[in-house]
Amino acid sequence: MSRKKLNIGLFGFGCVGFGLYEVLQKTPGLKANIKNICVKDRNKTREIGVENFTFDKNDIFNDPEINVIVELIDDADAAYEIVTTALKSGKAVVSANKKMIAEHFEELLELQRKHNVPLLYEAACCASMPIIRNLEEYYDNDLLESIQGIVNGSTNYILTKTFKENLSYDEALKQAQEKGFAESNPILDTGGFDAKYKLLILLAHSFGYIAKPEDLLNIGINNIGGLELKYAREKGLKIKLVAQAFKNNDGNISAFVIPKFVDTEDRLFNVDDVFNGVITKTSFADEQFFVGKGAGAHPTASAVLSDISALSYDYQYEY
Ligand code: HSE
Repeated sequence: MSRKKLNIGLFGFGCVGFGLYEVLQKTPGLKANIKNICVKDRNKTREIGVENFTFDKNDIFNDPEINVIVELIDDADAAYEIVTTALKSGKAVVSANKKMIAEHFEELLELQRKHNVPLLYEAACCASMPIIRNLEEYYDNDLLESIQGIVNGSTNYILTKTFKENLSYDEALKQAQEKGFAESNPILDTGGFDAKYKLLILLAHSFGYIAKPEDLLNIGINNIGGLELKYAREKGLKIKLVAQAFKNNDGNISAFVIPKFVDTEDRLFNVDDVFNGVITKTSFADEQFFVGKGAGAHPTASAVLSDISALSYDYQYEY
C-alpha cells in the first residue's frame, strides 16, 4: 500500500511532544517529519537544534506543505481552537486531549464529516494501549456488551504506591507528577474526571453512544482514607479506580467511574503502577483483556506515532 508523506505541524513540546520528537528520530521508516513546532513559552530552553519553533500558530495553519496537525498541549480550550481551525482548513489532526474531545465530541464529528478530514486520538485513551483502533476495527461486526477497566495511570500509580509501599497520598501524587503521568491540574486524575473523559471516548467507539461529561457520574480516589486501605489489606483486596460501561437488558447504556475493591480473581487485581487494563465483553469473542502503560512520554508518544502512521494511508474512524 502506498503511503503519503506527512509534514507535521506540532503544537506543544512538553512531556509528550518531546517524547514524540524522540520516537520519530528512532522510526526513520515512517515518512513523517516535524516541519514546525508551535510553543507558548518564549523563555524555555529547548535542547534540540534542528527543528523550527514558532510562537505564531498561523505559521503552521498557513503553511500549505503541512498536512497533519499534531496537538499535544495541556489546555483543553486552546486545544479546541487548534483542532477546530485545523479541521476547517482541511488538515488531518492527531490529538491526545481527552478533555477537549469528550467535551466537544458532537461538533468534532460534524467537522470531520463536513470537511472530510480525519481526527485520530488513540493517545487520548489509555496511552499505549491500542483500544480505540481495536474497538473500531476488530470489533466492527462483533457487538460490545460491556467494557470496563482502569483507564487512568496516575491514580493507579497512587493507589499502588500507597497500598504496597505505604507511601502517603501526597508523596505518591508528587511522584506521579514528577514522572509526567499526572495532569497539570491533578484533581482531573484524582477526582475521576480524566477517567470519565476516556470513558466517554470509549462509549462512542464501543456503543456509538455520544454523551457529555455532565451525563456521567465520576467518583475519584481523593476520599479514600486509611480505613478503606486497612480493610482492603485485611481482606486481601486492592482498591482500583474503575471506569465501567455496559448495555442493560432494556438496551440502555449505564456508565460511571468509581473506586472499587477488587479481589485476586479479578483481572484488574494485578494491573498496578502506571498500567491501564481494559476488559471487553462481546457477543462472539467473549471476554478479552488489554493491558498497557497508560501514561508517560514514550507510551503516549507511541500512540501518537501509531495515529500518524495510520494517517499516512488515510485511515479514519467510522464511528
Ligand atoms: N493523567 C493521565 C493519566 C495521563 O494519568 O492517565 C494519560 O492520559
